[in-house]
This record gives sequence, C-alpha cells and structure tokens, in this order.
Amino acid sequence: MSKILVTGGCGYIGSHTIVDLLQNGYDVISADNNSRSNPSILKGVEKITGKSIKNYHVDLCIFDDTHAIFQENPDIAGVIHFAAYKSVGESVSNPLMYFENNNNSLTNILRCCEEFNVSNFVFSSSCTVYGNPDETPVTEETALKQAESPYGSTKQMGEQIVQQTVNSNKIQSILLRYFNPVGAHPSIEIGEIPIGRPANLVPAITQTAIGKLPQMQVFGNDYPTRDGSCVRDFIHVSDIAHAHTLALNYLIEKKNKSNCEVFNLGTGNGYTVLEAIQTFEKVSGQKLNYIIAGRRSGDVIGIYANNEKAKKILGWIPKFNLDDMMKTAWEWELKLK
Ligand code: WQD
Repeated sequence: MSKILVTGGCGYIGSHTIVDLLQNGYDVISADNNSRSNPSILKGVEKITGKSIKNYHVDLCIFDDTHAIFQENPDIAGVIHFAAYKSVGESVSNPLMYFENNNNSLTNILRCCEEFNVSNFVFSSSCTVYGNPDETPVTEETALKQAESPYGSTKQMGEQIVQQTVNSNKIQSILLRYFNPVGAHPSIEIGEIPIGRPANLVPAITQTAIGKLPQMQVFGNDYPTRDGSCVRDFIHVSDIAHAHTLALNYLIEKKNKSNCEVFNLGTGNGYTVLEAIQTFEKVSGQKLNYIIAGRRSGDVIGIYANNEKAKKILGWIPKFNLDDMMKTAWEWELKLK
C-alpha cells in the first residue's frame, strides 16, 4: 500500500482527499499546523473510513521540522501539497504573509522530496492563476495573465517553482487547478470549517441562512455578465478529491508524458453568484438575507473551465451538480449548529 503525505490534511480539500485516497487503497499521513484548520476533521475522516490518520502538527515553513517527517517516514511514495493560505481578500490586505507562507512551505517540501527520492508530487493550484481571462472557458493552454491578488500570485509562483524544480531531478509532478470547491462529503461527516467570518461565497451563504451571520453581501452586480454578478465554476469538493487519487495513480503507474502536467478541475459550467444563491434557496427552502454591495478587490469577473483534458487523460468525471453542492453544504451547516 503506497504511503502518501498530504500536507494541509486537516483542511477542507485535504480532508476530503484523504477520504478518497483511503477508499482507494492508499496509506495516508497528514502534516498540518492547524493555523487555518481544525484537527477534529480527522475524526470525521475516521468515521467515514474506519481508519485513524496520524497528523504531524508541523509548520512546513520550518525546514528541520518538515525534514523530520520524511526521516520518520522513508516509505513516502508521494506528496499532495495543499498546505497554503487561500483567501483572495486576506491576501490583498496581507501580501507578505502569503508570499512567505505559501512559497517557503512549498520549497521545503520539494527539498525533502529531492533528498528522500519521493518521485510523485501533486500541487494544489488554482484557477486564480489565469487572472481575468479574455475568454472562457479556459483551457490549460490559456495564457496566464497578471494574477488579480497576491494569493493568485503565490499559485503562479508555486507552479513555476514546481515546473523548474522537477526539470532538474527525478520528481514527476502534476499541477491541479481547482475552480471553486464547494459542498461537503455526502456522509455529512466532514465539510468546510471556516475560521472566523467566511471569505468564500458558499459558507457565507450557509452561515447567513442558519443565522450565524445577520446578512451577507453580494460583491457587485454591475459586472458585464448575464445578471451583473461574477461568474464562477463551482465544483464539489468530493469531485476535486477524487481527481487527486486519479492524478497519483497516473504518476505512480508512470503514465505521465512529461514531468510536469497541468489539469483544470471544474465542471465546465459557469454560474453567477446570484444564480448560486437562487440554487441554494431552492434546495434549502431558505430565503437568503443579502444585499448588493460594491465590488471586492481581487475578484475576477468571470471564469469557468474547459475540463476535457482531465476527463480524457485522468478519466475524471465530476459526479455532483450545483444542487448537490448546495444541499450538502446546507446539511453540513445544519450539523455544525
Ligand atoms: C466567489 C464569488 C465573490 C463571498 C476561490 C478560492 C480560491 C480559489 C478560487 C481554490 C466572487 C462572491 C463571495 C461573499 C460574494 N480556489 N462573494 N459575497 O474569490 O472565486 O476564490 O476560488 O484554490 O482559493 O478562494 O471565491 O467564494 O471568495 O468568491 O459576493 O460573501 O462570490 O465576490 O465573485 P473566489 P469566493
């Protein structure tokens, strides 16, 4: 059974990916300093899979502590690197914190992969690397424009760091560009646990609906889109999770054509913010209390994926639709109450 190190394993996408890896025969360890996550999520992973996960409570920006994980686990066959800060808005107000955390943790992990001959590396990237695309849907060949936020810049830099590191050694890598991950595992045993006031749309919707937030704001309805609000490609977190298992299988079975391949992970459908809210109201039966506010700096107007490459090469087929995403997100919020 191949052992996989999942960094950020207590996080939203990390925990869902651990479930999928375990259910597909992998052995998993996590590294997460819980600065932006809650270790209790691994109890939910255990409830779903029956397996308990060891989490190394380590700040990956500290090389010696990161190195110690690999020393203790010389049989790590692959790494999935999620650990990073990821709020577009926060990165605008605190850019250096983002550059330091996201880049230093990545270079430490890559240095350890080199030293310990870990040859399979999956990097958690993001559609924010495209910036404001001139046309949609975007493919993996769409030119990357200026990132709209320091968060997006750290993902562009991260991709460059991976691409230029793997060229000079034996690491085989895949960059996965997520669109907007939302929803919760169908078992409702794990889901998103925002720290503080949620920056992302769907937890803001569910926390407003349940009364944790008095009202939510729609950041702009004067964009050049069909209803004036931004367009996003919402993708269920469990579909994102399964793509990581398929990406690892692809690398471990040495099916990759080059030592750094890129895949878009989106449904291929763009929905506006207001359409997402309407879908939530439909599946939850809750009327949402929101107002139209000004635009949020760092937002791109509209983006959604051409996902044909992941479908064709990884055999990835997204299973959940927007109704499922909103339904599981709402059921998870109700459970957190
Ligand atoms: C979506 C839309 C907001 C909150 C996210 C992740 C990022 C990356 C890409 C994975 C925007 C609007 C939001 C609110 C609102 N994913 N909104 N009111 O900025 O697209 O980025 O997906 O790596 O990590 O953060 O997601 O959910 O913050 O915003 O109107 O209270 O919803 O303006 O148009 P974003 P988001």
